[in-house]
Amino acid sequence: MLQAVKWDEGVLSLLDQRLLPGDAKYVTCTDHRQTAQAITDMVVRGAPAIGISGGYGLALAAFEAAGEFGSTGDSSQTLAAATQFLREAASMLASARPTAVNLSWAVERVLDRALLVLPQEGITGAAEAALTEARRIELEDIEANRKIGVNGAALIRAGSTIMTHCNAGALATGGWGTALGVIRQAWAENKVAMVYANETRPWLQGARLTAWELMQDGISVTLLADSAAGYVMSLGKVGAVVVGADRIAANGDVANKIGTYSLACLCKHHNIPFYVAAPVSTFDLSLTSGSGIKVEERSEKEILEFMGKAVAPPGARAFNPSFDITPAELISAIITENGTVFPPLEKNIASVVK
Ligand code: MRU
Repeated sequence: MLQAVKWDEGVLSLLDQRLLPGDAKYVTCTDHRQTAQAITDMVVRGAPAIGISGGYGLALAAFEAAGEFGSTGDSSQTLAAATQFLREAASMLASARPTAVNLSWAVERVLDRALLVLPQEGITGAAEAALTEARRIELEDIEANRKIGVNGAALIRAGSTIMTHCNAGALATGGWGTALGVIRQAWAENKVAMVYANETRPWLQGARLTAWELMQDGISVTLLADSAAGYVMSLGKVGAVVVGADRIAANGDVANKIGTYSLACLCKHHNIPFYVAAPVSTFDLSLTSGSGIKVEERSEKEILEFMGKAVAPPGARAFNPSFDITPAELISAIITENGTVFPPLEKNIASVVK
């Protein structure tokens, strides 16, 4: 499996997911500005993967600061200038995309670590510490995904057909995946008959990325147009829906790829379990409910065009929210690395997130 995010010798390489499955090319970032741009442009995407990239982006900023201010020694003026530079870089990276909280969470974690060691160890020491912290975030994410997989597979009944939306796989994380981590583990336990991957307009993460990932692993997958999900459920062909998340509020409301809310409503109607799989870094307990989550709106062009060609009359308008909010009452369980949260989510979330 190709790695979405790689760090090697001071260079951050991001697998260009806009080109998959046709081409597997990496975009290289040698400073934090390039990293922020790559996140905004969806070179890398998926909540944990943009968090990991943002963390490395801040490490790049710290090395930039060491190059720019380090030669003048670690005087108090130099340290103040480096601090300001790092804070500005963190703010740029954290705002590269607004909905997934993993991004600002990871950037702040690396910033805090760098600023903590800066007074004692100087700018170069702070840069090394920032890089170590970014690596730690990546490794922790991979470990979290494995645990999410095991916890989630326990909920899947043998012989199930599972539906998923967007891509919450290895490409969206440090590796293995959240929703796809559950599916991979359940498949390994011989519990999965087949996976329905919704194509996920307009970026087609389901068609281009999820189908590709699952096929590489030899997991049986069938692609659906997003609008076919309800009909397929009505035929009794879906045992469970498992999706990822971009931000989870304190009451259990979940922001995830546009179309997730519709699936949760359909699950309620058809009495199908609707599971959300996410690491605890996706929880934002500062928000009491999903109404406080900023939903990213992307360009109208993503709807009005398909592969560079107009699919609507000239002058047509489009609305393009990239995410939606699924209310907690539609969610059967949230699967994390620290355990599975069952309703009432608002009360039980405290058992997995401090
Ligand atoms: O716009 P994207 O591709 O970044 O959206 C991704 C999703 O909505 C995923 O489901 C979510 O980030 C979870 S990834 C483990």
